[in-house]
Amino acid sequence: MVNGGSLINKFPGSNGKRPWAVVTGCTAGIGEEISYRLAKEGYNMVLISRSIDKLKAVEVNCKNQNQEIQTKIIQVDLSKNAVNLEAYKLIRDQVNGQGVSILVNNAGVATVGYLKDQSAESIRDMALVNTFPYILLTCALLPELEKNKSLIVNLASSASWQPGPYQAIYACTKAFDRFFSDALYSELKSKQVEVLTVCPMYVQTNMTGMEPSWKTGATSCPAFVDKAMKACSNSTPVRILVGPPFHTIQTLINKMVLSSLFNYRIAYQIIENFCRKIYDSKEFANK
Ligand SMILES: NC(=O)c1ccc[n+]([C@@H]2O[C@H](COP(=O)([O-])OP(=O)(O)OC[C@H]3O[C@@H](n4cnc5c(N)ncnc54)[C@H](OP(=O)(O)O)[C@@H]3O)[C@@H](O)[C@H]2O)c1
Repeated sequence: MVNGGSLINKFPGSNGKRPWAVVTGCTAGIGEEISYRLAKEGYNMVLISRSIDKLKAVEVNCKNQNQEIQTKIIQVDLSKNAVNLEAYKLIRDQVNGQGVSILVNNAGVATVGYLKDQSAESIRDMALVNTFPYILLTCALLPELEKNKSLIVNLASSASWQPGPYQAIYACTKAFDRFFSDALYSELKSKQVEVLTVCPMYVQTNMTGMEPSWKTGATSCPAFVDKAMKACSNSTPVRILVGPPFHTIQTLINKMVLSSLFNYRIAYQIIENFCRKIYDSKEFANK
């Protein structure tokens, strides 16, 4: 038995061998923070991202969390390889037969603003990165994951709950992730694979560039990942994680009021005004 925190006690791998965790988009924001927490718990880490220098830095930081773990870095551009099945086989081959207990599908991009102002290339890349890798990496690793008690974490978003003016394609991709993840939760319920769908509002990362405050509704990345890690190690599996209480309130309003009234002009105008104010302000990083 590998000594570690409550998560590795819940998903301990098999035969006393240290289990592996696979994280996409590990070089920044939520994925980076999750990688450090998993390394600290005692998981061997497969770190996947696009930028080799950042990957090497995250690898060093993971080892600093726990000297005993092994790490592998895989540099892959998930927009160019989103539907390249060989890329997923290569990732699978890194861990095949070695005991994977955690998969975090996290890599994502958000281009926002008026549709006509966004390039076709950036929209294509976002649609690819945010969707196919979630399903195809899961397909590639599922046979391994099913051998142990294991966990799949999918980063969707609160943007998945209703259509998103000024983030139209992003919201579509996140609805895709949420539907996929939620269906998988049901499919795998009888197996020993838990699935957690994560649907945060704004978290302070490069993607949003937002300072945590009541005004922006953003929360800090470490605080958000605290919540996510607690949900993962919870003894009663959680199906969907929203985040801190004010994210829950915002999401409830979105889900129960705005999305059910979306066909009515007034609700549409509330959402449209809210989104336009955000994207016309200087707060959103990659506007
Ligand atoms: N931040 C929020 O408020 C928020 C809210 C709801 C949902 N989410 C979701 O949470 C996830 C993480 O978001 P974040 O805010 O942490 O983002 P972030 O700080 O911008 O980090 C994104 C990560 O994805 C990687 N990535 C981007 N494009 C890639 C590509 N083509 N190939 C491989 N890796 C790529 C980046 O790697 P490089 O360093 O190589 O670019 C980076 O490690 C996303 O799925 C996002 O939709 C975020």
